[in-house]
Amino acid sequence: MFKRMPGDEPHRIVSTTPDTAVVFKPAVVQTPAIITLVIFIARFVAGLFRLAWRHPIALAAVAVPAGLCLTYGWRVALLPVVPALVAMGAWAVLDRPTFLRWVGWRLLAFARWFWIYRRHWQPVMTVAGLARHISGREYVPRLVKVTSDSWADRLTVRMLDGQAAKDWSDRIENLSHGFGSESCRVAVAKAGRLVLTFPRHDPLAAPIAALPIPGTPTVGPVEIGRQEDGSPWLLRLHGTHVLVAGATGAGKGSIIWSAIRGLMPAMRAGLVEIWALDPKLMELSYGKALFGGRYAADPADCADLLDEAVSVMHKRAARFAGVQRSHTPTLDDPFVLVVVDEVAFLTAYQSDRQLRQRISAALATLTTQGRAVGVGVLAALQGPRKEVMNIRNLFPDKIALRLDESEQVDMVLGDGARDRGALADRISPRPERGAGVGYVRLEISPDPIRVRAAYVSDYDIRAMAGEVR
Ligand SMILES: Nc1ncnc2c1ncn2[C@@H]1O[C@H](COP(=O)(O)OP(=O)(O)OP(=O)(O)O)[C@@H](O)[C@H]1O
Ligand SMILES: [Mg+2]
Repeated sequence: MFKRMPGDEPHRIVSTTPDTAVVFKPAVVQTPAIITLVIFIARFVAGLFRLAWRHPIALAAVAVPAGLCLTYGWRVALLPVVPALVAMGAWAVLDRPTFLRWVGWRLLAFARWFWIYRRHWQPVMTVAGLARHISGREYVPRLVKVTSDSWADRLTVRMLDGQAAKDWSDRIENLSHGFGSESCRVAVAKAGRLVLTFPRHDPLAAPIAALPIPGTPTVGPVEIGRQEDGSPWLLRLHGTHVLVAGATGAGKGSIIWSAIRGLMPAMRAGLVEIWALDPKLMELSYGKALFGGRYAADPADCADLLDEAVSVMHKRAARFAGVQRSHTPTLDDPFVLVVVDEVAFLTAYQSDRQLRQRISAALATLTTQGRAVGVGVLAALQGPRKEVMNIRNLFPDKIALRLDESEQVDMVLGDGARDRGALADRISPRPERGAGVGYVRLEISPDPIRVRAAYVSDYDIRAMAGEVR
């Protein structure tokens, strides 16, 4: 590269004084223009082949009319184009879902790949620090595929060798700003491949009215609201325990009441009992009539009610032992759902030490042994602070509504949840936009799902309670 220095101790000659006579010059190899041209043409042709291979329909839709237009004039070109457009239009009107699935979303994905992701890919990768410059060569992660659906674009990405998903999840802000989206989710598709999800708009921005009470009694997954992709959000309560954490006004009540609402027919049929612990006296007292006397607000009464639940559980366990290993709700053995609003009032913040220990022990017993005998716990929690968090691990399924600090997200949902896109600290504090919005992490999947609970108003609760009286 450099001119050879005379002598065998060059460092003596090299001087840092400004007027030094020693100059390093890189050797420049002149490339003939023809070689540069050939390389450009080869790249262009390869690009065309790649385009035809990856997007044959889109290319044909442009190339066929253009070819006809050039060869026979625009009138001839219109001959296949007009019927095709009319057929598409008719399809779109007559059967919109299949049209969107087969044509609409694919066209949108192509347009967004062409206009946004392909165009900004290299700059965003470089500035975000996801591309690497090694020995004069630039290595950029490969954008394999873009798909779109009603609310988001999904990018399949081939990471650089040696990269980890965490390198990407640490940069979700760079990525979302870079591609003009509100947020970005990172999920591993398989070894070396990621799927980045960029929502185009927020389908959960508007509140959802209380859902209709189901027609048939069911203890199966209860519809609580909607998921980000528009599908119903079904929450399993029978056979698990659920913890809901959120700052004050985050909408914990709407999850509790939506769950109760979904279980109403089964309650009426005698297959479900809801036992309510309401230490704040505000949330569940509204629907007291629904709980058939299993309602407690005073901490001592709460402890008694929990002990009773534990004793029901033990009795069932003794009867079931050796006979059945899982619970099916019956009139004799209904599913008992213990609903606790603001569980920390009963545990961490309870000043009576004996009572606190009694309640904590009962909760721990219920959550560790209740699953198989049909006793479940649905608990709400306001401030997920350290002293409260030892109860977190007792709950297999967790929901984080709006939280005050980013560290609290992992405290509620478990390590790495925020990195995977559970931005519970960014949920809007305005009730109409953010109340009831949260992230769910189920026992079966590490990826948090964004959801919004339907809002069960005081009027709805009164109507529900009235039905039972
Ligand atoms: N799912 C929802 N959709 C729209 N608005 C909601 C929803 N849930 C709650 N809200 C609004 O937010 C307000 C506070 O909700 P809620 O009382 O359920 O919060 P919380 O989390 O229980 O708060 P706290 O910890 O203070 O009891 C409600 O009065 C209502 O106006
Ligand atoms: Mg509340």
